[in-house]
Amino acid sequence: MPQHELQAVVEALHDRYRSLDEGNVATYIPELGKASPEDFGISLVATTGQVFETGDCDRTFTIQSISKPFTYGMALEEFGEAAVSRHVGVEPSGDAFNSIELQNGTNRPHNPMINAGAITVSALLHSRHRDDAFDRVLNQLSAAAGRRLSVDEGVFESERRTGHRNRAIAHLLLNFGLVHEQAERALDVYFRQCSILVTSRDLAMMGATLANMGRNPVTGEPVFDLASVRHMLAIMFTCGMYDYSGEWAYRVGVPAKSGVAGGVMAVVNRQLGIATYSPPLDSRGNSCRGIEVCVELATRFGLHAFDCSNVGSSFLQAVL
Ligand code: DON
Repeated sequence: MPQHELQAVVEALHDRYRSLDEGNVATYIPELGKASPEDFGISLVATTGQVFETGDCDRTFTIQSISKPFTYGMALEEFGEAAVSRHVGVEPSGDAFNSIELQNGTNRPHNPMINAGAITVSALLHSRHRDDAFDRVLNQLSAAAGRRLSVDEGVFESERRTGHRNRAIAHLLLNFGLVHEQAERALDVYFRQCSILVTSRDLAMMGATLANMGRNPVTGEPVFDLASVRHMLAIMFTCGMYDYSGEWAYRVGVPAKSGVAGGVMAVVNRQLGIATYSPPLDSRGNSCRGIEVCVELATRFGLHAFDCSNVGSSFLQAVL
């Protein structure tokens, strides 16, 4: 049987970019510094459940910031959009993921993809579920991945021990009444969610769950509501790649989220979850090889939201 075109393309992209020698492995969380810069996996999962992948797609790494859209979706479903938006905004900040700043006037974090916003979201979940909050997060992310995920306790302890900047952010949030008194417990939820172990296949499946209107395409389990998926994807589109989000929207044009362990997850609405794993990061904390692979996939297959081949909403067809 001839090889599927998508399989041939992921293999060709892996071949082309495995020699790309740019970026540095994150070391500010000491345990992350142990990652091999050579590791490189690419996985695509279609909303039909078909998987196309190559390289180190079974290698586990910590999800880090790619957990943020999922916990944001959980908070939206638990508390409703109005309550969540009193705590965290939806504007790109244009600043680094770990910046210590809040919105002028409202004193909210700019959005739930930067650390301040994500810690606020984890605190909301902790305020309601206390000691069960993290298990609920793990269950939800596992449902999106379609398998039981676990935590890298070494990375969790490493970040917990050294995460002084996030601790400062949490206490600033406490000062403005945006998180409840148990800020340290909320931080533990945040550090733990960042330490969930995934593979590029898991991330592509989680992306495919979002692409598939919130339902895991293989298990068939409904994981997120339609409305939450729309909000999650919108925030990923505008804020998911931090201070590279504008250029990403320009060059790739699909919602995405990166993590400092080297993962990138992108979502082609109603079609595909894309994930890459390659630890060397650029100065904004995004995986160098991951960006190049996504740019090429988007260009080659016309994945950009505003590509001329993309017919978009069927509204006009229905009314004309
Ligand atoms: O809060 C932190 O610093 C990490 N646990 C997560 C940061 C992250 O993944 C930023 N992404 N590029």
